[in-house]
Amino acid sequence: MTKRTIYELAGGEATFFALVERFYHGVAEDPLLRPMYPADDLKESQRKLALFLIQYFGGPTTYSEERGHPRLRLRHAPFPIDQAARDAWLHHMNAALDATPLPEAAREEMRRYFAHAATFLINRAAPATLPVFPLQPRLPHEQNPI
Ligand code: HEM
Repeated sequence: MTKRTIYELAGGEATFFALVERFYHGVAEDPLLRPMYPADDLKESQRKLALFLIQYFGGPTTYSEERGHPRLRLRHAPFPIDQAARDAWLHHMNAALDATPLPEAAREEMRRYFAHAATFLINRAAPATLPVFPLQPRLPHEQNPI
């Protein structure tokens, strides 16, 4: 017997479209994430993410037929994804997962994947960790030796 894919286990493409629709309801209300997405309409973003996940979890490869190689880090480079953005994204995805009827094994596997993928996409340091340099030159006795 061949191993069933998460795609099959989850119930096929309808489940992924429903999951992503729930996720985007969260994004639409999120003050940190919403400005990163197209201003007019989230429908296209929604479709791309659903097709990507369908492909990633073992379903049809429509995503790559339309978009080519996913190159997720490259495609996310324009967006300022720091720890807070990663946490917000994951929060909405985990809420969507909780609200979607799924076999527990599929939910767990997807939860693990999203945590990993979202961390992998962090591309900015959190602003609070950047050093603050004085704007005025220091007096000689104040100067830092390094
Ligand atoms: C970590 C926080 C994340 C933020 C802030 C973020 C934000 C974005 C934004 C702003 C877009 C552009 C939407 C558009 O132009 O329509 C996008 C596209 C996309 N994101 Fe994310 N994303 C995040 C994490 C993820 C993760 C974890 C995945 C996959 C598991 C993912 C998969 C995608 C895909 C497939 C696209 C469409 C790429 C394309 O074909 O153009 N994103 N994301």
